[in-house]
Amino acid sequence: MNLKLFLERQTSKCLSELGLDNSALVKQSSRPEHGQYQANGVMGAAKKTGQNPRQLASDLASLLQEKNDPNNFELEVAGPGFINFTLSGEFLSKTLHDLEKDPRLGVSLDKKRKILADYSSPNLAKEMHIGHLRSTTIGDACSRILEFLGHEVVRVNHVGDWGSQFGSLLAYMDKLSEAESNLGSELKDLELFYKKATELFKEDENFAKSAREYVVKLQSEDPQCMKLWSQFIAESLDHCQNVYERLGVALKKENTVAESFYNNQLNAVITDLESAGLITLSDGAKCVFLDAGKGRDGEPTPAIVQKSDGGFPYIATDLAATKYRSKALQVDDALYFVDARQALHFKDLFKIAKRAGFIDGNQNFVHIANGIILNKEGKPYKTREGGAVKLAEVIDESISRAKLIVSEKASEMPDEEQKRISELVGIGSIKYAELSKNRTTDYVFDWDQMLSFDGNTAPYLMYAYTRIRGIINNSGVPSDKNKNRFNLTDRSEVKLALKLVQFTESVEAVVEDYNPNLLCNYLFELAQIFMAFYEHCPVNSSEQATKESRIHLCDLTGRVLKKGLELLGIEVLERM
Ligand code: ARG
Repeated sequence: MNLKLFLERQTSKCLSELGLDNSALVKQSSRPEHGQYQANGVMGAAKKTGQNPRQLASDLASLLQEKNDPNNFELEVAGPGFINFTLSGEFLSKTLHDLEKDPRLGVSLDKKRKILADYSSPNLAKEMHIGHLRSTTIGDACSRILEFLGHEVVRVNHVGDWGSQFGSLLAYMDKLSEAESNLGSELKDLELFYKKATELFKEDENFAKSAREYVVKLQSEDPQCMKLWSQFIAESLDHCQNVYERLGVALKKENTVAESFYNNQLNAVITDLESAGLITLSDGAKCVFLDAGKGRDGEPTPAIVQKSDGGFPYIATDLAATKYRSKALQVDDALYFVDARQALHFKDLFKIAKRAGFIDGNQNFVHIANGIILNKEGKPYKTREGGAVKLAEVIDESISRAKLIVSEKASEMPDEEQKRISELVGIGSIKYAELSKNRTTDYVFDWDQMLSFDGNTAPYLMYAYTRIRGIINNSGVPSDKNKNRFNLTDRSEVKLALKLVQFTESVEAVVEDYNPNLLCNYLFELAQIFMAFYEHCPVNSSEQATKESRIHLCDLTGRVLKKGLELLGIEVLERM
């Protein structure tokens, strides 16, 4: 049960019985003297009708008291017209018991929208780099959570596999196959391949000519060119898939709907725009003028949808994709997890798509923007030579750094187990570092912070989980979920119980505006509250009923931690 929602509904219902139709806006309160929840919508309601807010709050509180079981919560009118709720121990332990019996830990499964998530979406000309970590992990976590809530999620990897950037690559492939060198092994390092091809383009006039010809051949789908292109794309997709598998990201090859998929829909898109009267010709290019985008000189800047040479830019493909997603897939929402630097692109895209009728009023197409990754000096994270840092190498480094820590902390463990722990800790750490930060701001990539066993990190939470499992295993208490009544006596038990029943609130909060860091914060706070509880409340030395109640609290905390991390795409271990 979502307690916040429950209290909000109760309060709104009573407000409307008093003849007011305001919603009651209940929030969790962080100050214990304000109760555990606080309703603050009363003032707004009073203002509208000119009533005294304190009087209204007290009428409302009496009504709430009358309508609800008096054993559920205590109410207090405070300040200019707030209502503070304090849940009773009995209500809390009953709610906790329901939670314990529920394999979904209180999270309901009643959401039913069809939601497309466009995430990761790298350009295939190069290897995936560190920058792809954000869209990939945030998009993946949000998709998991939406699915868990019951939505139908369509994952799409909108990879860039088309366009002039492939000219040099194809010309270089051609050159290598003529020289009968081992093209296959050269392609294993896509980054180097790209570098060599672009260098040749700059240095060798003949090569540059061939590269330009390849751009044209690609556009006309020349068979020899397409053969090379397919080989390149297959290699690059394998590389991406390997990264996803190592990261435990749920994208599969069948989720790939590449830019080239839309090639044969582009002309129709332009025709649609023309019939909607949106196209203006400017220097031979087809443009859409939007009032919003004003250039430096105050003149409106157009979005070019077809270049004067007939070629189609990035936005044309994206227009075709919005149309396809809306009309063919009939999605309710489409979420684009992409770098904030593309904000203007998406603003134009959605505006044009709406005007052209590709998206209708009930559909939400939104850009879920993320900030970029910085180094400690606050500059974009690059290699020493100024190049992009390969994602595969970030993964390797994280695992080997984790290995160093694990071998120090758990030197007595068998090697195989150390290896397994290092892998999960290494992967978990880089993912959690992404997810726990504010999505929209840039953040500093800091190995020591993310791999630390202290603070809001994956290792801290993974370790907390193993400690809980240890406590339970040592207790000898059977895990019979139906027998126990929670017996919450100590303040730290009540605090832990309240946090546990708020799991569903924190999961649902993530998808209000796609902020996985809200769930991270929740899990971190839960683990801290658990540690405080464990310090104050002896488990194994208590008399049997208390011991059982406390072990059940431990067990539930473990289950919530595990489920929460799983929803973020992070795996836990039973022992480390
Ligand atoms: N391939 C693009 C890039 O690397 C991101 C694509 C995002 N998705 C989209 N539908 N535009 O910048």
